[in-house]
Amino acid sequence: MSKLAVFGGKPVREKLFEAYNTIGEEEIQAVTETMRTGVLSKYLGCWHEDFFGGPKVQEFEKMWAEKNEAKYAISVNSNTSGLVAALGAAGVQPGDEVIVSPYTMSASAISCVFWGGIPVFADIDENNFCLSVETIQPKITSRTKAILVVHIFGHPVDMDPIMELAKKHNIVVIEDCAQAPFGKYKGRFVGTLGHMGVFSLNYHKHIHTGEGGVITTNDDYYAERCQLIRNHAEAVADAKGVTDYTNLFGFNFRFPEVEAAMGIEQLKKIDALLESRIKNANFLQKELTGITYLDPLIPADIYKHCYYVQPIKYFEEKNHGLSREKYLKAISAELPSSYMREKDPLIGGGYVRPLYLQGIYQKRKIHFHGRNPEDFNYAKGSCPVVEKMHEKQLITHEFMRSSMSQSDMEQVVEAFYKVDQHMDEIIQRQNEL
Ligand SMILES: Cc1ncc(COP(=O)(O)O)c(C=O)c1O
Repeated sequence: MSKLAVFGGKPVREKLFEAYNTIGEEEIQAVTETMRTGVLSKYLGCWHEDFFGGPKVQEFEKMWAEKNEAKYAISVNSNTSGLVAALGAAGVQPGDEVIVSPYTMSASAISCVFWGGIPVFADIDENNFCLSVETIQPKITSRTKAILVVHIFGHPVDMDPIMELAKKHNIVVIEDCAQAPFGKYKGRFVGTLGHMGVFSLNYHKHIHTGEGGVITTNDDYYAERCQLIRNHAEAVADAKGVTDYTNLFGFNFRFPEVEAAMGIEQLKKIDALLESRIKNANFLQKELTGITYLDPLIPADIYKHCYYVQPIKYFEEKNHGLSREKYLKAISAELPSSYMREKDPLIGGGYVRPLYLQGIYQKRKIHFHGRNPEDFNYAKGSCPVVEKMHEKQLITHEFMRSSMSQSDMEQVVEAFYKVDQHMDEIIQRQNEL
């Protein structure tokens, strides 16, 4: 009988890996104490000292700003709302273009349409899956208002050349830091490299408060605009003495006190959580280097990668033409699935479908505000690198989460090598997969 689990053999491991749960007694106690005060939010949507929220919100923001070495941290109720606020603060107007990556969570691209912006997709760099100055430059037009870069999977974007280009064209740069909290580029924290950065505190992230988000900036003007848009700008502007009314349509994007109390405790844990992810990811990188058809993508020294997920490249041409999907079937059969969703493996091919292929773009149902829709290319093939990565080469996995012990990681490596050692059998029987 075959030794491979995919053909009925015994898997390397059957027992589920420990759930990734960063919430402990500290958060429970902080939440309980906050609830006992009876103050679950303190915001007022008018120009008043409570315009900035209650004590826990302000304590959390101060802590985040200090830790991130940013002048301002502005809490919001999600990264999505934070991106909407940041694009509003950037002054995006109907018909303006926002250059964005197609390889990101959908909110990164759609957030500009709330101000009438139009997403323009630029291709990614195949070594880090992020936008690069080379892919952005040809997309710049006289209507480009903002560039929204995404530190995807936790890998910081190569920001210096992008900032130089943006300065030349007077373009605002917003960093989507949802997957890269406290990542670094040349020693500086993400979220302080562009004009504004936006983080997520949803429950998938390194640290979380269920849902939530934070905007960071070093710029007084953008900070004020984000604070206004977060909290009913139009009702505040007159009394606050704001004279530029551009995009001062406010929302309620306010972060509640209980979540802020939880966030304070989560922030105290981020360094240790990040370091153990990096340690696990480094271990896998080193161990997998011996497999010829994989590239474990070791980041250059200028980047501190946060490993929201860990990308690996797979080359079928170096593995007798075996497709990535068939290879992944063999690997996933050797290891347990995710704790939270038992049918979801912790490893898979690609990430999200390149965003321009979503129906909303294909059917041209975003608003073009008098611009010619034909000037916007959302066709299949328009970003060939992202399509190749998504369809053929990229593997993403979550084995490096901080809940994984060294012996768990060793079993992951064992699975990769067991499959490798039985590759002849897989190639021979690939039609059964
Ligand atoms: C890159 C990226 N941007 C934006 C978001 C949206 O974050 P939120 O759920 O906090 O709105 C996510 C969430 O997964 C993300 O990964």
